[in-house]
Amino acid sequence: MDKIIIHGGKRLKGEVQVSGAKNSALPLLFATLLAPGVHRVSNVPHLRDIDTAEKLLKILGAQVERENGTFAVDASSIESVEAPYDLVRTMRASVLVLGPLLARCGHARVSLPGGCAIGARPINLHLKGFEALGAKITLDHGYVEARARGGLRGGRIRFDIPTVGGTENLLMAATLAKGTTVIENAACEPEIVDLAEALTKMGARIKGAGSDTISIEGVRELQPFAHAVMPDRIEAGTFLIAAAMTRGEVRVRGLCAAHQEALVLKLREAGVEISGEGDELRVKGPRKILPVDIRTCPYPGFPTDMQAQFMALMTLADGASVISENVFENRFMHVCELQRMGADIAIDGHTAVVRGVKKLFGAPVMATDLRASASLVLAGLAADNTTEVARIYHLDRGYERIEEKLKGLGADVERVRE
Ligand code: EPZ
Repeated sequence: MDKIIIHGGKRLKGEVQVSGAKNSALPLLFATLLAPGVHRVSNVPHLRDIDTAEKLLKILGAQVERENGTFAVDASSIESVEAPYDLVRTMRASVLVLGPLLARCGHARVSLPGGCAIGARPINLHLKGFEALGAKITLDHGYVEARARGGLRGGRIRFDIPTVGGTENLLMAATLAKGTTVIENAACEPEIVDLAEALTKMGARIKGAGSDTISIEGVRELQPFAHAVMPDRIEAGTFLIAAAMTRGEVRVRGLCAAHQEALVLKLREAGVEISGEGDELRVKGPRKILPVDIRTCPYPGFPTDMQAQFMALMTLADGASVISENVFENRFMHVCELQRMGADIAIDGHTAVVRGVKKLFGAPVMATDLRASASLVLAGLAADNTTEVARIYHLDRGYERIEEKLKGLGADVERVRE
């Protein structure tokens, strides 16, 4: 298994380009299942999760060609409606084929994902939503079987809590349902807007994406689309924090500044200088990092996917900060590893109290999920001596060429293949 070795303490300087968003590319690739013909999805990042999505599309019968981040997906013939356990357990987002398959074929069978490193993560709300559109759901030997004889029909869905994947799944399913569907308490994340834009290019009739109420008027059929994936706001945010933590000066290009607002406000409170707008932000790390409290919430609140990285920053603050995780119940797996690097963090339930220390020290560390791994890389960049981050296959699920991008900013980072 590969490791990343970081000789910390270098100030990051220069420019870095943000890649396409994993969490937008995945639903967009699965949306191709909704219509026959050749779809083109560009600005797709080169990541392990994207490779898994490609495998799944091929298993379902789609022809996939990829070149330099552009996928041509021909989903003219669907040969299977089953997402097998082996793929779903490597990537939970595989459950997003349920909506498109059910809408187009009236039948889908998807392995029920188990819990994962950050929480139980059930899909009960997706399933309740499909039932509201007339699907019959059964559970069979660890698989969810969804059937809609005669097709889905529009209905009213009110999610108990906003769910990103649930909103995406139901949005895709409703495009081909008979009649109008209204999704209330919908997730408002930018990735949902990106998906809705692509579906609209396919001929779907959608209003309200990006707000908490989305209405979809079903159409009889959809056409192939061409769409460029939006920038990865979490990758961009990770680079903003990398610059801040190393007291560096970095220009992060190709992002969407409007998507970074919650993070930028908190970084400014921490004393980080940030300027720019549109598709670029310039960041200058402060001499003294001020302590700032955060609470993770659905968009437009502070993103749970940036919590671990922000905590890494707070380990070096001049004082104590309180970090509450309100989206996932078990997303503090990075804490023990940060402690091994000298961080002073106490956890009580879903709250962590971080008392800033003067220095972090390099250590061998490993993480159990993607963003936790990112937080360890950030800590390693700011720490004295050498940090070895093991199990970086987690990082490879969500950060494209991370060590190359960091090296481009002057970090002393190498990947060691074992
Ligand atoms: C998406 O996960 C992202 N994944 C996650 O990215 C992200 O952390 C999360 O949204 C929240 O922003 C992708 O887009 C592929 P949810 P998703 O459904 O859709 C509960 C990363 O590091 N819930 O919005 O699975 C759930 O347990 C990651 O890139 C139910 O109870 O998240 C959680 O507590 C990991 N029942 C909350 O809702 C359901 O049926 C929000 O989850 C669905 C969700």
